[in-house]
Amino acid sequence: MKHRRSVGVLLGSLRKASTSAALANALQHLCPDELSLERIAIGDMPIYNPDDEEHAPASWRAFRKSILACDGLLFVSPEYNRSIPAVLKNAIDVGSRPPGQSVWNGKPVAIMTFSPGNLGGFGAHHHLRQSFACLNMPTMPAPEIYLSGSAKLLDEHGAIANPDTSALLARAMTSFAHWIELNLATRQVAHAA
Ligand code: FNR
Repeated sequence: MKHRRSVGVLLGSLRKASTSAALANALQHLCPDELSLERIAIGDMPIYNPDDEEHAPASWRAFRKSILACDGLLFVSPEYNRSIPAVLKNAIDVGSRPPGQSVWNGKPVAIMTFSPGNLGGFGAHHHLRQSFACLNMPTMPAPEIYLSGSAKLLDEHGAIANPDTSALLARAMTSFAHWIELNLATRQVAHAA
């Protein structure tokens, strides 16, 4: 029997009508049965300050617990000023501390970025990859997902409008299911050695 794996979804936007949220919703219908996607809220966490660790805010503690419970993580984000939105960076920083207790350690991760223009959020995408390398998060190498022309990404029903894009995203989610299994298996071998 195949395992069902939980994937925490983190969005780089707080807007109610965000493309990020709409894209994440559309992915629910494109992902294989083995994956269950669950949104992890990051909007209410105070900006990370190590001074606050002694009495860590409840939102930081709840967030860290949610990440630890996930088998994999999916980041869906626009680009802000050729980098990642601050809300996402704050979540990354909160999860990475205190030293030696990072909840990101070893978590398989996939990235999808988009933009209204042609660049597909390339800058944000690679700034995420840079942080994930530092955090020991095995990042799915392919397919790389940079979605351009995001104003036309979704149709009026919230589905991916372009059939080729839809097929690409479905393939990415299947690859991610394999990527999670591969990394969980490798970790078990590493532990057993
Ligand atoms: C943007 N946007 C943007 N787009 C882009 O392709 N490259 C960029 O560097 C930026 N920079 C940027 C900065 C700030 C502060 C904002 C608010 C926006 C536009 C952005 O991609 C667009 O608004 C997205 O639709 C936002 O995603 P959500 O909120 O719809 O998920």
